[in-house]
Formats: sequence, structure tokens, C-alpha cells
Amino acid sequence: MKFATTRIAAAVGLTLTLGLAAATAHAAPIVIKFSHVVAESTPKGQGALKFKELAEAALPGKVEVQVFPNSQLFGDGKEMEALLLGDVQIIAPSLAKFDRYTKKIQIFDLPFMFDDMDALDRFQSSPKGQELLDSMKSKGIKGLAYWHNGLKQLSTNKDKLTRPEDVKGLKFRIQSSDVLEAQFRQLGANPQKLAFSEVYQALQTGVVDGAENPWSNIYSQKFHEVQKTIAVTNHGALDYMVITNSGWWDGLPEDIRAGLQKAMAGATEHANKLAAEINDRDRQRIADAGKAKIQTLSKEDVAAWRTAMQPVWKKFEDQIGKDIIDAASASNQQ
Ligand code: LMR
Repeated sequence: MKFATTRIAAAVGLTLTLGLAAATAHAAPIVIKFSHVVAESTPKGQGALKFKELAEAALPGKVEVQVFPNSQLFGDGKEMEALLLGDVQIIAPSLAKFDRYTKKIQIFDLPFMFDDMDALDRFQSSPKGQELLDSMKSKGIKGLAYWHNGLKQLSTNKDKLTRPEDVKGLKFRIQSSDVLEAQFRQLGANPQKLAFSEVYQALQTGVVDGAENPWSNIYSQKFHEVQKTIAVTNHGALDYMVITNSGWWDGLPEDIRAGLQKAMAGATEHANKLAAEINDRDRQRIADAGKAKIQTLSKEDVAAWRTAMQPVWKKFEDQIGKDIIDAASASNQQ
């Protein structure tokens, strides 16, 4: 009798322990690491924080979003690999950093492809733009959204920067993109692919003479303190694709995936609304800092840059696809 009671007590104890363990396991939130390379004050930095806020509010106790800005967790040399290995769940690389995975996304790097951010937005929302979110599926990458930053400006450590001839022979830091490499070669300059976290030092020490960045990245990384002139070229776009590992995403419980999708839609709206405001603010802050001169350009100057860079389009037409180039061009005419 005593034996039976002990066994029952042990069984009850075991059940309780297992039940507790199951409850604890159930209660443990899914940790979602979101890594990026820019400051929190930028459009991407703000978008990532908004995603955390919305996801955790929509799925209380079920998910925990950990945001790592400023290449703290992974720099842009490693983040894609880390995503594929499952070491990070969400990243948002610039659209210039995908050419190892799909050539089609090179559309976004073509110089003077989009007249302004509205045109870029129209293309991203169009059926062709939306298709590109799925263009890396076979590589295990799923595009969740496009996020805006802004148009790129050219900067150098020289006083004169108004015409394409002014950059001949200069060294420029570029993102890891073959289109951007061709763009600078077309100008007779020397491009060098460098991770974003290395740019400030490369500019400061003269490893490179110049770079191309939107205002928010120039200001938040203090590039204006180590450049003499920033020409308002608006010659290309710097936007992002927020991506995840498709195996991880597809394996999430349905309710979690739906909640995250909704949070991503909200964060996208937030980041994209803020992007222009942040870039305008940071342009003004750079002007106020009085370190680098902001060189505005005449219509003729801009036309000269456009003409000088135009041959790049033809070089990449076959890789990108004429259908995509035509759809992007059409987004300018609305
Ligand atoms: C760069 O490398 O210049 C950008 O892609 C950084 C960023 O994420 O905005």
C-alpha cells in the first residue's frame, strides 16, 4: 500500500514537473534577431525599432524581437550568410547588396533610373517590383518588404565637385555591387568595395577619396566631417529589402507568421513615411555643421552626370532584363 502511494506520488510529481516544463517551454517567446548596419536615427534604424514594438504588441509573450544596429552583431560582409545559417532571422540590406543572389535587383543601382523617391515607390509597389521580393526564393531568401532611405549624393575630399570630369582618377568607396563598380569606372574613377562599417576610416585616412550616400547615412556616420564637398547629384537610390530565411519563416506557427506580417506592414509604413523627413533633416544638420560644403548643381551639370553614367544601363540590360528596366522607366512617367 505504502509502495503504491509512493508510486502515485512520484507519478503525480513527474506529471507536475513535466507539465511545468511544458508550460515553461510554451511560455518561452520565439527570439527574432534583427541585425542591421546603420544608426538607430536613420529610416532603417527607426523601422527596425517600430517592427519590434508592433510585433511584441501583437504577439505578447510569444515573440521577442532583438534589434542590433550599427553592425554590432553582423557587418554587411557576414549578415547574409548569418541569415542563411539561422544565426539572425531578419536583415535589411541595401538593394545594392544582392547581386550574388539575383541579377534582377541590380535594377535599383542603375544610375538615374528613378526620377525621385515617388517613382521608386511606384515601381516597388508594381507587380514587377513585388515579384522581385520572391526572386531569391531558390536561395532560401524571402523578401518581406521594401524600405526607403533616399537618393544618393556624391562626396569627395576635393573642393571642386560639379562635373563628371572632377572625379577622374579619384578612389570611391562602393557597396558590393557590380553596377556601382561600372558606374565609377565609366567616370574614370577607381571604385573600391568596402563594408559600411569601414567607410568612415577609409575616408578619414585617405584610403578612398569619396563615397556616395544618402543624407541620413552621411550625417549619422559623420562622413561630412571627413569630406570637403558633397554634390547634390541625386544620381541613384539607396533603399532596402527586408528579408528573412524562408525555411525559418515557413516553419513558424500560422498565427505568429500572420502577426509578424502585420507588424512588418506597419513598420514599413512608418519607416517609409519618415525617410524623406529624416533625410531632409540630416541635410540641414550637415549644412549647419559647416564642415563639408554642400554643392548644388545646375540642370546642365546634372545632365552631364546623367550622360556620363548612361552607358552603364546597356551593360547590365541582359542581366537585369529589359522587361524590368521598361517597368522601372514607366514608373517615372506618372
Ligand atoms: C552602405 O553600405 O552604404 C549602405 O548599404 C548602408 C545602409 O544599410 O544604409
